[in-house]
Amino acid sequence: MTEGKKLWGGRFTGQIDPGFARFNRSFGFDRRLFEADVMGSLAHCDGLFAAGVISDAENVAIADGLLWLLARWHEAGDSFLADESAEDVHSFIESRLIDRVGDVGRRLHTGRSRNDQVATALRLWLRDETARADAALRGVQTALLDLADSHADAVLPGYTHLQRAQPVLFAHWCLAYFEMFARDRERLSEARRRMNVMPLGSAALAGTSHPIDRERVARFLGFDSVSRNSLDAVSDRDFCVEFASASALVMAHLSRLAEDLIVYATTEFGFVELSDAVATGSSLMPQKKNPDALELVRGKSARVFGHALALLALIKGLPLTYNKDMQEDKEAVFDTADTVRESLDVTATVLRNVRLREARARDAASVGYMNATEMADYLVRRGVPFREAHEAAGRMVLHGLSKGLELHELELEELQEFSPLVSEDVYEALSLEQTLATKSQAGGTSPGRVREALAAARASL
Ligand code: ARG
Repeated sequence: MTEGKKLWGGRFTGQIDPGFARFNRSFGFDRRLFEADVMGSLAHCDGLFAAGVISDAENVAIADGLLWLLARWHEAGDSFLADESAEDVHSFIESRLIDRVGDVGRRLHTGRSRNDQVATALRLWLRDETARADAALRGVQTALLDLADSHADAVLPGYTHLQRAQPVLFAHWCLAYFEMFARDRERLSEARRRMNVMPLGSAALAGTSHPIDRERVARFLGFDSVSRNSLDAVSDRDFCVEFASASALVMAHLSRLAEDLIVYATTEFGFVELSDAVATGSSLMPQKKNPDALELVRGKSARVFGHALALLALIKGLPLTYNKDMQEDKEAVFDTADTVRESLDVTATVLRNVRLREARARDAASVGYMNATEMADYLVRRGVPFREAHEAAGRMVLHGLSKGLELHELELEELQEFSPLVSEDVYEALSLEQTLATKSQAGGTSPGRVREALAAARASL
């Protein structure tokens, strides 16, 4: 067994301190790169063969060994990766390969360093995770559209400052979050484009002296292109920062959605009821139904923001090129990917099971002077300058408040005290239906516009 043997033993005479060995080890977490690193090794092996650095027989022996490792891992799962002594995933794979195929396995590392190797494996891994995050985002978008479709006529009070502002269609609210997630998907796909560049062939930092056709290796691995500067390639972790910051925005959007639903699910608002599937009870208070799923999503946003900042801080003061500090990138990236995907999936489950209390939401959208702006706009249509119309409508509200009546509950004569231009048709104008229907410019909440927006959103998926 080569187990425990270091990749870099030649220059050393003394023994490593056991405490430092533990501290130095990354295999506890970077084993997640196993498959990606084997793929990178297969591509590199092919590159060495094509360059004439290894023979046909050596190529076949090494590639068979690597495929055997992959197959063993597929069969045995993560128990195959149980190894308390391996320093990192790269040394684990190389030592297992040598165990399997013998000395020929020692040729694989020609023209390669763990520096370009780890950068390659992490890009490959994160490329797949980015695709998974995109699919999960799409799942949330679909759930939002389904929810909007099943409540096409539902109305919700819209808020600013969490004070009742103007009524909006519930579907318009759903589509607001749809837009945020659409931008998130764009950001992730742009990040993926820059991620999909291959560092392999940069070796430790200076590039390789072996005539490896890097384009061929890149094609093998599905990279769009090869890195243009070896110093940059081994020390670049921008792709991690970009993934984490795009993820931080995803989490910010999920957190806002969670917050809206948590508020709407309170007894005080009561616009939605969360499914038992995504809530918990209280160990003490029998009546409680707590929105834990949404609270956890809101809470987990904090750790993803932390990872984005940690990655920036990690690279900030590093001299070129590779520094061992960079080993710290992995846990931040892994946890970001896991947290974002799980938060998206749980949110989709919440949305697929939420019940909208349409009557209650509509009632809430009909009181609280939510048609005061409509009153001002009505006066504007009769030629009153908006500032004066706003003033008159404001005084009507004050009058209504003193009597405990909504604007549309005041007598025509009362309203005319504030503006003689008010006539009988004002009641129609103040109705919830009209209030919504008049918001008919692009991006507005009129039923027609929202129908169009829903169709366009569907088509965009
Ligand atoms: N485990 C290391 C990391 O994750 C791999 C690269 C090590 N390279 C080195 N020259 N020590 O960054």
